[in-house]
Formats: sequence, structure tokens, C-alpha cells
Amino acid sequence: MLSEHDILSIPEASRWASAYLSRNVLQSNINYLIQYAKINKILRDGIACVSVLELKNYYDSNSRNKSQNPLSFANLREADTTKHVHRLHPYKGKFIPQLAEYFLDSHTDELKKEVYFYKGDWVLDPFCGSGTTLVQANELGINAIGVDISEFNSLIASCKTRGIDLAYLSRVIDRITELLAVFVQESGILQFDEELTAKLADFDSKYFPTVEYKASVRDKKIKEREYAAEKEREFLKIYEKLTKKYNVRLQNENSDTFMNKWFLPNIIEELKFVAGLIEKINQTEIRNMLTLILSRTMRSCRATTHSDLATLIEPMRTTYYCIKHFKICKPLFSILKWWKTYSKDAVERLAAFDKLRTDTKQICLTEDSRSIDLDSVLRGKKIDGVFSSPPYVGMIDYHEQHAYAYDLFGLPRNDESEIGPLCKGRGTEAKESYVIGVSDVLINCKKYMKPDYNVFLVANDKYGLYPKIASRAGMKIIELFNRPVINRTEKDKNPYSETIFHMIDNGDAND
Ligand SMILES: C[S@@+](CC[C@H](N)C(=O)[O-])C[C@H]1O[C@@H](n2cnc3c(N)ncnc32)[C@H](O)[C@@H]1O
Repeated sequence: MLSEHDILSIPEASRWASAYLSRNVLQSNINYLIQYAKINKILRDGIACVSVLELKNYYDSNSRNKSQNPLSFANLREADTTKHVHRLHPYKGKFIPQLAEYFLDSHTDELKKEVYFYKGDWVLDPFCGSGTTLVQANELGINAIGVDISEFNSLIASCKTRGIDLAYLSRVIDRITELLAVFVQESGILQFDEELTAKLADFDSKYFPTVEYKASVRDKKIKEREYAAEKEREFLKIYEKLTKKYNVRLQNENSDTFMNKWFLPNIIEELKFVAGLIEKINQTEIRNMLTLILSRTMRSCRATTHSDLATLIEPMRTTYYCIKHFKICKPLFSILKWWKTYSKDAVERLAAFDKLRTDTKQICLTEDSRSIDLDSVLRGKKIDGVFSSPPYVGMIDYHEQHAYAYDLFGLPRNDESEIGPLCKGRGTEAKESYVIGVSDVLINCKKYMKPDYNVFLVANDKYGLYPKIASRAGMKIIELFNRPVINRTEKDKNPYSETIFHMIDNGDAND
């Protein structure tokens, strides 16, 4: 039996807290408490630990506050925030589905008193990104229109929401997989990869035996950097011999495009082969879904190290010492494995969402929300409200994050119409242009909304721009919801919080 004076490792603390609170407390939740100095980190034999007493005090004193902020969603697991179609394709900058659900849902309880949308309503997301609002609106029986300036983002949103014949999709996937397997076999890359994998396994088990090696690094018996560099050089000789033996090309003729820079020649050939097969498919929904699966596959096959997957640094075309896995790792030489994995995953996710899908309309459009004309879509109907998350100032280039897909599929880009992109920075001019951009979107949205509309914008307004945005758009902020963000869907663990601005019309007819 544990006493309050016990010290627990992070996995133990997660188990203890789960039992204590009768809900799932993840290791990442405990790490969060340490990171934010809510509790102290105690080092025991080089391992991070925490005190049961401190944890208990923390939970006891916070239990009341926690229940007062339902928007922290502290008890959600990653599987909840990435449920069904929400993980069909990576997308940096999305909010979690539970946030959209909270504001769209007409159900109330002691934590949520107000209702803003009802079944059968129409909600607009003028910055729809990967379609989180649209998917949740569908689940709740609400119609939705999503607009995004980036064609690839609208494609993600549309694939998530559009119903599709899954039996037919599975048959097409099987056929493509068969043809790809033959293509890969004939290229000879598998034989090279098999020999390389076998040699690498021998080498790693000899020089980087997992537990012993990690312990030696931790106890400073091995100087990791020098030792790893020496072994990396040693294995590179084996790698070079093998690439010569199998005549494997490592460089593209030029690195003018994102694809040529970040993908090995063999991977590009396989990608182009599958893209060619997809192009011949007549049914738009099936073609789009396969495009998405191939794009997800492509993203996982970039020539980068395991530790740089989130932020690409330099292309990696050789074997290398991997600081994530503490051994020598290799780049990927074929897309086959990921294609199979993601095809299966996509069908399963779509099938899971089919069980929840309601008979509502979800419309995805690629356009600039400052000027889009929705008359032909709405045909006299009026929008009940907006639930959206505009880009944050100077944070993300939304086209560029999927540059690989734009290259492979030759999609048109509209980067210069993005509001608040990373490439324009966070200077005074960028902020001014952001205020004008977001408020112009709201002004345009107002044309299509009922007079008593509700607008909810999720933002991290560290520059205090939203009061100006609301005022310029002829709206007033009537409520602010603060949300500590502790369960981000991306791997980026930087802490931050968001505000949900609730705006309504300011009633000034002259606006
Ligand atoms: C923060 S993201 C939205 C993410 C979304 N809530 C989700 O969960 O996937 C903002 C989106 O606004 C889009 N955007 C930027 N400028 C735009 C414009 N002028 N018109 C329409 N969409 C725009 C970006 O392409 C990006 O996908």
C-alpha cells in the first residue's frame, strides 16, 4: 500500500493518479504538472519522479477549479482527440473535436448552461482547415459550410465529411496495392532493403544493445556523441557498398522542388506510379480519398531523421545515428509498408465515422473567405453562426505544410491570399494586415447570417487584436472562454492557452 511519503516514477504516478481520481491520467498529464511547476520533479537514479503527497495536494486543491473549466478536457486520451476521421491526415493547427462539440452541442449540463446551435441549423467555418467543425457538426445533426484558401486543406475536410462507398474503396485499394507490390518487386529495391536491414540489425545489436547502451550513456560510461559518430562512420562504409552493389540512386537530378529535395529517387518513382493509377479513377470521392491516403504515405516517407519528423532540418539520404532510438537507423526506400498501413487505417476510420454520420449537408469550398459568394450554395437560407479558428499571426504557412502533396498532385497554390502566414512574420505591418484580414472575413460572413447570429472564434490572442477585429467587423465580444491547452493533437508539446471569443452583432445598422 502506498503512503503519502512515497516517491513515484512518472508511469507509477500516472497509475496512482488514475486510481485516485477514478479517471485516466496519462503520463503526459503528470509531465505537464512538472513542466508548469505545479509539482516538483525529483530525480532518483537519473529518473524523473514525483511525490505522492504533492500530487495529492495538487489534485485536492484543484478538483473544484477543474470541474469549473470544462474546456480543459484534461481527462481525454489521444485516441479521443484523434477519433475516427480526425486522424485521416496530419494537419498542423487544428483544434480538438471536443472543443467544437462543446459549442455546437444543444445538450446542457451543470458545466454547460447555454445553447448556441440546434439540430438542423447551419454553421459556417470560414477557416475550416482540416474540417474539424464540419465533422462534429455532422455528428450533431447540424449542416455546415467550410471554406479554406488552401486546396489541400479543403480536400482533407471534404474527404472526412463526404460519405463514400467503402466496399468499392477497399477493392480499388487492393488492386493498387497489388500493382504497387509488383512495381516494387521489379525495381529490385526490396532485395537491397532486406540486406541493409539485416546488416543494420546485426550492427545495432552488437554496438547499441538497447538497455546496456542506454544505461552506459546515462552513467556517462560512454561518450554518446563520439561513440555514435564513430559507429555512424563505420556503418556508412557498409551502406555505401550496398548502394553500389544494388545500384541504388540517392540523389535526384536537381533539388528544385520540395519533392526532389525531401524524397529519395526510388520513393518518388513509387509515388508517381501510384499517383498515376489514382489519376485514372473516374469517381471523384474515391480519387480524392486515395489522394489523401497517398499523401499521408508520402509524408511518412520523407528523407529525414526520426527526430526531425515534425520540423524538417536537412534531408537524410544515408544511415545515421538516431538520437530518438539510440542506434543507427536508415531512411525509407519504399512506400509499400506505409501505403498498406494508411489504406487500412483510412477504411477503418471512415467505417467508424459512418456509424455516427447524420443525414446533414457538409459543404467544403476552396476560396478566400474575405470575398466568397455563398448565395448559390445557401439559396436564400441563412447561417445561424460561425465556429472557427483563424490562423494565428505569423505561426504557420498553411500551404507550405503540405508542400509535398502540392508537388506530387500538381494542385494549384494560393499562398499569397493566406491571412497571417508565418512567412509574413509578427511585426506591426503583419498584425495590421491580420486585423483587416480576419475582420474582412467576418464582414463577408455577416452577409449570410441571421441577425441574431453567434460567432465563436478560437484564438491565442497574445497581441490583443480581437477587440479591434470585432469592432471593425461591426460585432461585439460578449463573452470570453479561456482554455488551457494540454492535449494538442500535434506532437508539438509547447504549452499555450487559447481564448474562445463569443461575438454577436453590435446592432449598428450602419456597419
Ligand atoms: C487555424 S487553421 C483552422 C484549423 C481548423 N479549425 C481545424 O481544426 O482543422 C486556419 C485555416 O485558415 C485558412 N486560411 C487562411 N487564410 C484564409 C483565407 N483568406 N480564406 C480562407 N481560409 C484561409 C488556412 O489555410 C488554415 O487552414
